[in-house]
Amino acid sequence: MTALKLEQVGKSYGSIRVIERLSLEVDTGEFIVFLGPSGCGKTSLLRMVAGLEEVSEGRVLIAGQDVTQWAPGRRNLAMVFQHYALYPHMTVRANLAFGLKNIGTSDAEIARRIDEAARMLELGKLLDRKPEQLSGGQRQRVAIGRAVVKEPAIFLFDEPLSNLDAALRGRTRIELARLHQRLGATMIFVTHDQLEAMTLATRIVVMNGGAIEQVGTPAEVYRRPATRFVAGFIGTPAMNFIQATRQADAGERVALALPGGGALVTRVPAQGPARGANLVLGVRPENLRLCDAEGAVLAGTVDLVEFLGERTLAHVRLADDTTVGATVTGAAPQVGERVGLSVDTAEAHLFDDGAVAHHAEAAPAAVVPLRRATS
Ligand SMILES: Nc1ncnc2c1ncn2[C@@H]1O[C@H](COP(=O)(O)OP(=O)(O)OP(=O)(O)O)[C@@H](O)[C@H]1O
Ligand SMILES: [Mg+2]
Repeated sequence: MTALKLEQVGKSYGSIRVIERLSLEVDTGEFIVFLGPSGCGKTSLLRMVAGLEEVSEGRVLIAGQDVTQWAPGRRNLAMVFQHYALYPHMTVRANLAFGLKNIGTSDAEIARRIDEAARMLELGKLLDRKPEQLSGGQRQRVAIGRAVVKEPAIFLFDEPLSNLDAALRGRTRIELARLHQRLGATMIFVTHDQLEAMTLATRIVVMNGGAIEQVGTPAEVYRRPATRFVAGFIGTPAMNFIQATRQADAGERVALALPGGGALVTRVPAQGPARGANLVLGVRPENLRLCDAEGAVLAGTVDLVEFLGERTLAHVRLADDTTVGATVTGAAPQVGERVGLSVDTAEAHLFDDGAVAHHAEAAPAAVVPLRRATS
């Protein structure tokens, strides 16, 4: 069932347009992440869903009902902000109860919901403390608890973890994922942290300049980015972009001349990219590997070697003076050493003038015969 539908929703502040008309459907139980750089409009969009910000164009539907003109309180949502404001003079229990008391929930029902939220978020031992007696992470759990006790149809989170230190951020992220599993509730989560987006989301909405660049599962936005923006934004270290010149197609595939003159036959279908001599080859560092310079399609000089723990990354300066990140396979090279690079064409992308991505044709799935039990 559709939990939330945005129909051609746009936002302007006076004459400044910050959200282009955009549409999105969110199914019940999904964990949707709005991901994009600072200022791209994530908070504005979330606040329009919440009813905290007026919608300039279009409609917002929750569970099939047009709520565009509804006050926030009627929308059956709960929002958790980055700067959670707990009432400092109230205990945790009173903080959790406050919103429910206001809408006239019975004491017994309030007690039941607080019990359940406390169990889920491990707040049991903290219920009689005041916020000042809690750590930052515990306070954030209380803020999430305040949303949980409302039992909303949709949870809205605006960068709720960004005030926490790295370790706590990681732990709270896992708690949120568990909470989502347990409640099966619809969640919409705003972040500019792609690790958070990749690990939490059922689908990611990648935003840029007030528009949606792509909506897809974490694997889709990583493996099949729709645009050059998505390709460059998702993945650390970032995808390399290499200027290339289109050659006569090799059969059905696009063929390229790379910096230094090497020839590469891609797996991108020839009819994909718009005609024109210049294309950009996009390849992630894990799909660009050091090899012998002799006979390699790309070669260059090692600028820097980074030991990253599970792998070593070499920064290699190419013939056109651009630098790419590549994975070291054997022994680490010396700075200044001349090395070759091999491209995994199955994972290489092409971008034409429109910055639209063209991908390698998916390899045919291996057919695995079902083994029947013989006895
Ligand atoms: N009340 C306002 N009046 C005018 N412009 C605004 C207002 N609120 C936000 N903006 C502008 O709208 C754009 C989107 O802002 P928004 O807060 O939605 O971005 P964001 O993606 O949440 O960024 P961040 O990651 O920094 O929180 C920005 O350019 C911002 O300057
Ligand atoms: Mg924001």
